[in-house]
Amino acid sequence: MGNLANKTVLITGATSGIGLASSKALAKMGAELYLIGRNSKKGEKIIKEIKSETGNQSIYLIVGDLSSLTEVVKIAETFLSYNKPLHILLNNAGVFNTIRKLTIDGYEEMFAVNYLSHFLLTNLLLERIKSTDSARIVNVASGAHMLVKKMNFEDLNFNNGFKSLKVYSHSKLANILFTYELTNKLKESSVTVNSVDPGEVGTNLGSQNGLFGKIISPLMKLFLKSPEKGAKTSIYICASCEIKGVTGENFRNCKVKELKPWATNAETAKKLWDISERLINSSIKTPYNNVYKT
Ligand SMILES: NC(=O)c1ccc[n+]([C@@H]2O[C@H](COP(=O)([O-])OP(=O)(O)OC[C@H]3O[C@@H](n4cnc5c(N)ncnc54)[C@H](OP(=O)(O)O)[C@@H]3O)[C@@H](O)[C@H]2O)c1
Repeated sequence: MGNLANKTVLITGATSGIGLASSKALAKMGAELYLIGRNSKKGEKIIKEIKSETGNQSIYLIVGDLSSLTEVVKIAETFLSYNKPLHILLNNAGVFNTIRKLTIDGYEEMFAVNYLSHFLLTNLLLERIKSTDSARIVNVASGAHMLVKKMNFEDLNFNNGFKSLKVYSHSKLANILFTYELTNKLKESSVTVNSVDPGEVGTNLGSQNGLFGKIISPLMKLFLKSPEKGAKTSIYICASCEIKGVTGENFRNCKVKELKPWATNAETAKKLWDISERLINSSIKTPYNNVYKT
């Protein structure tokens, strides 16, 4: 695995599960880490833990809730204000809800947090990423994307027919289509973009959901991979020299995993990109409108 001394890494969802395990591994490799967390107390505690376990003292917290697009803009602005290069962007945060929730911007929460916030964050950071030599964007998706064969463009918020696993899987299909379109847009640059399917991992995903969170989720942990094992592919894509220059792929168990045709449909990927831009421009009623360019 590569040495990440002098490399800057930004990670969403670093306060738990796969993101936390990834953060510790990347910290051990010497990276300067910027962790995004929505809870400052929890974030500070995690930073202390990572510093003491890894000896790396260059770990910083940016507080922000990805369920608010305005906060996503603030997160990006905060990072950009540090005038640091960005070698690795690990888009990892995610949520699984058993009931339908809407964000402050009026989007279904799994679509907003798992996909739309990362679409915006990545675009806001894109100029910085492009100006960093051989930068990597890593999108944590899921094998669950295979459960949904098309984007629900007529009703992205699932006002009708909300089924938790279907809506979660739909947000993960969006991660893959985003990876596909972003790869195309960045073909002339040295930036690589790949997605990760971590497999089935015992984390806190879904633990905020009543009965599911209290009983099923902890029970499932007994049979699933540890977060450390589940983070292996993310860490590999972020840091391995073996995959330098590899772009537009989906990885599982540190190997390329071929995607279903509907997850690499050029027309759907382009449509999702265009709609996402429109949604963001209609949601951010501040001077940030159109701040992102590709
Ligand atoms: N576990 C699996 O089997 C599995 C399988 C395939 C893919 N994945 C994907 O792996 C990624 C990591 O999930 P995990 O399994 O490690 O779950 P996890 O332990 O619940 O971690 C999720 C992370 O996302 C953060 N997050 C959630 N909502 C957020 C928000 N509104 N604003 C900011 N941060 C937010 C959480 O912050 P808090 O600490 O504040 O809650 C936490 O740090 C997700 O994208 C998930 O879809 C997981």
